[in-house]
Amino acid sequence: MPLNHIAFIMDGNGRWATARSLPRTMGYAAGLDALKRVIAQCAKRDVKVVSVYAFSTENNGRPDNEKRAIFDTVKNFNNSYDGEMKILYMGEIDGLPEDVADSVRYVEDKTADNKGLILNIALNYGGKDDIIHACKLAWDHNDFTVEGFESGLASCGLPALDAVVRTGGEKRLSNFMLYECAYSELFFIDKLWPDMNEDDVDAIIDEFEGRTRKFGK
Ligand code: IPE
Ligand code: IPE
Ligand code: MG
Repeated sequence: MPLNHIAFIMDGNGRWATARSLPRTMGYAAGLDALKRVIAQCAKRDVKVVSVYAFSTENNGRPDNEKRAIFDTVKNFNNSYDGEMKILYMGEIDGLPEDVADSVRYVEDKTADNKGLILNIALNYGGKDDIIHACKLAWDHNDFTVEGFESGLASCGLPALDAVVRTGGEKRLSNFMLYECAYSELFFIDKLWPDMNEDDVDAIIDEFEGRTRKFGK
């Protein structure tokens, strides 16, 4: 079965910086470099959609300087992006600082007709919030079928989530794509996100291709 849609929980940026005696905020720029390497290799391996967890609803509890460093990284990426990917966001974008929200709208609009890999970025995103939102829509439309419910999720329109990868050594989902991962293959990697490279992506995809997915049958 091909790997159409892979998601990355990009954890370990702060620890990567701390290990180099750098401020935690420096880990996010290094994380962006890793993201570019990972996406390029995913595209080479014919993955269609890459979802990434960039900022959770719970991350709002982080110190202001750390949040600003994450948002600036996202903003710089958005405002300078000039490639073939179609870039989408999921999460409460209106709840972000105005300059960040503007950059999100700008890049979504700019890449809307692009035909390359889809990069789906979870920003100010929480899986619980997304499910509650979908419930409200299902109620409004009086449609409680699986298809009807799924049309209310932020991931609506994307292919089924085949695999979830978490770097940084923790074995948890931290409120990421809780509904979508029902039958995803899970990968937990000890490496910190900024250390991820093309070989790591190849190893994940090779292992995925070797796994037997049964879907309960
Ligand atoms: C994950 O990296 C990315 C975000 C939360 C934005 P962390 O900042 O959680 O890095 P660690 O896990 O503390 O090393
Ligand atoms: C998950 O990492 C969120 C992102 C990678 C954006 P966290 O570092 O916030 O998760 P916990 O706190 O270890 O569960
Ligand atoms: Mg973390």
